[in-house]
Amino acid sequence: MDIVQTAGLWHRYPNGVEAIRDVTTIIRKGDYIALIGKNGSGKSTLAKHFNGLLRPTAGTVVVGGLDTASTRSEELSRIVGYVFQNPDYMLFSTTIEEEVAFGPKNLRLQPDEVRRRVEEALDVTGLTEQRKESPLFFGKGIRRRITIAAVLSMNPDVMVIDEPTTGMDYRGRESVMSLIDRLNELGKTIVIITHDMKVVASHSHRALVMSDGQIILDSPTEKLFENHDALRRASLKPPQRIQVADELGLRDGSGIPTVAGLSSRVRDELRRPNIS
Ligand SMILES: Nc1ncnc2c1ncn2[C@@H]1O[C@H](COP(=O)(O)OP(=O)(O)O)[C@@H](O)[C@H]1O
Ligand SMILES: [Mg+2]
Repeated sequence: MDIVQTAGLWHRYPNGVEAIRDVTTIIRKGDYIALIGKNGSGKSTLAKHFNGLLRPTAGTVVVGGLDTASTRSEELSRIVGYVFQNPDYMLFSTTIEEEVAFGPKNLRLQPDEVRRRVEEALDVTGLTEQRKESPLFFGKGIRRRITIAAVLSMNPDVMVIDEPTTGMDYRGRESVMSLIDRLNELGKTIVIITHDMKVVASHSHRALVMSDGQIILDSPTEKLFENHDALRRASLKPPQRIQVADELGLRDGSGIPTVAGLSSRVRDELRRPNIS
């Protein structure tokens, strides 16, 4: 089922920058999308149309059957939640728990329902133990979890997560990405905006490549790295394991090689008797 549809979408900022130019696309329930492309290619601008943070200057965006041009942001944010790139813009409460309760309270839900939503969001994001502590004392990884919990507690169908792993070390990245995988498994439609091709290769199921305000490629992730032209136009480089597999001619069309899979192929090749 479609949850977001854009048709002939254009967005021109008041300063005249045409950030989105004629984008037509569909997001289906359960999708796990990576929105990728150079800085300034329009990723955030496009994603902000999915919950009414921005409205089309031409064309239409329909979210959960509602035309965003004539629907209040409050309605739209029940369907699509937006986790901003910089956690510090979002965090303002004295405790993590209050931070996570803010959204549901704002939706004017019953206190029981607010409590239930908060418990659940804290549980899924692994923050139950820290609930009484201040969001500001934690590092990037935990703060990212808090901003995700604060959107999750509004129970949207779709979660847009802008640059979930930027500035994180390996463990932080793995931890936040396994949380996002889990959210997708729990039925959330996910759109991550990212520069990290390793994250794309190992997590998302579908990739939308943007360049100059347009979607130049819409591909299952496992086919993404075969599209050399689109990747070049978007200045994106496959993860090293894929570059190595391509160099060695060891891509066998069975999707994205893992390091373990690639190593075992190389080992097999090395063991093959040298007939010549
Ligand atoms: N609030 C704004 N006002 C004017 N121009 C903007 C604004 N936000 C973004 N832009 C411009 O729109 C284009 C797309 O930006 P953006 O959507 O942020 O790209 P991305 O998220 O891919 O880095 C860029 O040229 C950027 O400078
Ligand atoms: Mg952006």
